[in-house]
Amino acid sequence: MNRLAEKIAIVTGAGSGQGKAAALGMAAEGARVVAADVNEAGLAELSSAAEKIVTKRCDVSRAEEMEALVAFTEERFGALHVMLNCAGYLRAAPLLETTDDMFDGMINVNLKGVFYGCKFGVPALQRSGGGSIVNWGSVNSMVAEPDISAYTATKGAVLMLTKSVAVEFAKDNIRANCICPGAVRTPMVESFFDEGFFADMAEQRKYQPLGMGTPEQIADVAIFLASDESRLMTGSAVVVDGGYTAL
Ligand SMILES: NC(=O)c1ccc[n+]([C@@H]2O[C@H](COP(=O)([O-])OP(=O)(O)OC[C@H]3O[C@@H](n4cnc5c(N)ncnc54)[C@H](O)[C@@H]3O)[C@@H](O)[C@H]2O)c1
Repeated sequence: MNRLAEKIAIVTGAGSGQGKAAALGMAAEGARVVAADVNEAGLAELSSAAEKIVTKRCDVSRAEEMEALVAFTEERFGALHVMLNCAGYLRAAPLLETTDDMFDGMINVNLKGVFYGCKFGVPALQRSGGGSIVNWGSVNSMVAEPDISAYTATKGAVLMLTKSVAVEFAKDNIRANCICPGAVRTPMVESFFDEGFFADMAEQRKYQPLGMGTPEQIADVAIFLASDESRLMTGSAVVVDGGYTAL
């Protein structure tokens, strides 16, 4: 408890899944959290669950909304110490069936959303004397799978964007790390597997040795990366994948 006391944090993609678990987990550790998403129903559940969380609708693919999100946080709480760029989505298709709209859509949310989070978050972190950025990559930041090439391209780029931010702003005591989850049971992946798969640990182990992850298991690592416990870590690809990439 209280590993994030006095910290002020933004979490994007906080209306569901891993972002929601991270927002709740950080609030439980004492942080004040601005939870952002386009999913207003998800945000409403969050604000009623924890008094340290305030919510704000924000489309991460829109520069002016991300700039306003950071300004809102500083006005409301006086500073920013932690920026968690979690919003993202996956549309699967074979490469030859991937349309420009599909490709651009994932670039705009998964990559440009993280770019805006860094671009507008960094000056606020500089004003508060430093801080921690956690960007959501994926095991697909490092390894490919069939039929998700556009998504994989965005997640590979997020890892290198993160490393670039890490080396550029270490002088300002700003750290940036890329959390790389394996398969985690959230609405994003539920449509890819049938109910039987979620009930069958032996099947899951063929795919990911420790079985499907939970949002809370990823949030625990994000909280560590947000906290001063990880103070020597920057520019890292932090793989949290239940052994997925070890197979
Ligand atoms: N679930 C997995 O297996 C898995 C694995 C590796 C990486 N990831 C990544 O983890 C992150 C979180 O995904 P999740 O699994 O929690 O999925 P999720 O669908 O439960 O949550 C994603 C959230 O992002 C929000 N979002 C989407 N577009 C947005 C936009 N333009 N602006 C603001 N918010 C937007 C959605 O509304 C949703 O609330 C994503 O970046 C995803 O790519 C997921």
